Amino acid sequence: MKSSLLEICYLFGSVTFIVGLKMMGNPKSARRGNLYAAFGMVIAIFGTIFLFEKKDHAGNVDTAFVVPAMVYYLIFGAIALGTVIGWLTAKRVQMTKMPELVSMFNGMGGACAALIGLMEYQHNLDSTGALAAIIAGMVIGTVSFSGSVIAYLKLNGTMNKPIRLPQYNIINTIFMISLVAFGTWMVMMKPDNMAILYALFFAAIVYGILFTIPIGGADMPVVISLLNSFTGLAAAFGGFLYDNKIMLTGGILVGSAGTLLTLVMCKAMNRPLSNVIFGAFGATGATGDREMSGNIKDINVSDTAVLMNYSKKVVIVPGYGLAVAQAQHVIHELEMILEERGVIVKYAIHPVAGRMPGHMNVLLAESNVSYDKLVEMEDINPEFTSTDVVLVVGANDVVNPAAHNDPASPIYGMPILDVENAAHIIVNKRSMNAGYAGIENELFFNPKTNMLFGDAKTVLTKLVAELKAL
Ligand code: TAP
Repeated sequence: MKSSLLEICYLFGSVTFIVGLKMMGNPKSARRGNLYAAFGMVIAIFGTIFLFEKKDHAGNVDTAFVVPAMVYYLIFGAIALGTVIGWLTAKRVQMTKMPELVSMFNGMGGACAALIGLMEYQHNLDSTGALAAIIAGMVIGTVSFSGSVIAYLKLNGTMNKPIRLPQYNIINTIFMISLVAFGTWMVMMKPDNMAILYALFFAAIVYGILFTIPIGGADMPVVISLLNSFTGLAAAFGGFLYDNKIMLTGGILVGSAGTLLTLVMCKAMNRPLSNVIFGAFGATGATGDREMSGNIKDINVSDTAVLMNYSKKVVIVPGYGLAVAQAQHVIHELEMILEERGVIVKYAIHPVAGRMPGHMNVLLAESNVSYDKLVEMEDINPEFTSTDVVLVVGANDVVNPAAHNDPASPIYGMPILDVENAAHIIVNKRSMNAGYAGIENELFFNPKTNMLFGDAKTVLTKLVAELKAL
């Protein structure tokens, strides 16, 4: 009876995961989707705690088995501690620090999978299938854990320079092959010696570090998403080991969603995954080696206010600088003032604007910008020809025309927002410094472009004040 109820809890949990994931595809339903999936997870966890029945190999329930009270105390103590820490951290985190939080949470998932492997190894020496799941889950979870810790340190600036050993690609490949061979040997030979298992565990920690340290800090969101898919895979191996359906479904969903996200990000940057992992993107300070022709023209806040006030249609292009400056609230204020004056205002959202997937959508949603105003790249690009003013705020690579017309550029082929088709282009940034790809932007030299220099929040606050005074 209990077992059947537990299966129903797992089925319910699996359905909420799938429905929740589907709902996360749309900003309007994403919050609810997250809650549904979390609710399903709570049901599955409590079902496991209270409905678990110990069975022998033949599937007969061991009715004499009682879970010691101490186990419940430990489980609920850990749940309470994890809930408080997780809740507080997630509540307090700034939007620009979100990738760090994701890498930390992901690392914890990997560590759990690794611990399962360390604990279950000696109990399953009689089964090759179970051992294969244990070793695979432990190695993949450990790589994900140590890789996520390095990713976290890179993102928070503690390790801000990529460390590249000579021939690091060859060293890493040899290390990975040796790790797989070591794990396979353990599954085949089943050594009853925990020291050997710990040696494999430490080798996996070292590989996770070696895998992540050469990769540039700005590529970390792609790497985190990849490590996230590793964690999902490791959890799925746990589900296979325990014959636990929810762990299996959850792991597979995380693994496949992480893989898809990694591929989508690479596609949007027009870079193969191998280039993210083995390349040294943006690290050379490459300028694209092109002489920029034309002059830089700057504009002041008053002239910008006048230009925007008398426009029919304004498109705002948010980028990484908007997030850094925390200017999402003031940009919404600017949008509302312009709309009150009869100007049509839209936001052009590039798929990799910022530093993590959906960065701009989440940032603007935080300041209550209406979802209908956020227009995806494919839909907004044809509209630039009918746009009076484009206001680019802290974006650079995602509006760089070199992606279309400079085959030597590292971003050549990356889909961009075609802002140069608008009548006037105003670019707000602090200096002429390059963006993430480390290259010059010929848009800034376009005769239609005016540079509005300064920190996004400061400049936009002044712009709002000027507009109010008009
Ligand atoms: P970037 O090309 O990085 O440009 C951001 C610009 O913001 C910089 O040129 C900087 O110029 C300016 N800025 C910085 N702080 C500012 C502030 N306080 N006020 C005003 N401006 C400020 O950003 P983007 O156009 O959003 O492009 C994103 C890049 O990240 C792409 O190359 C993309 O491939 C890459 N990337 C994205 C993702 C995802 S999933 N989103 C993942 C990995 C990599 P100043 O220093 O002169 O101010």
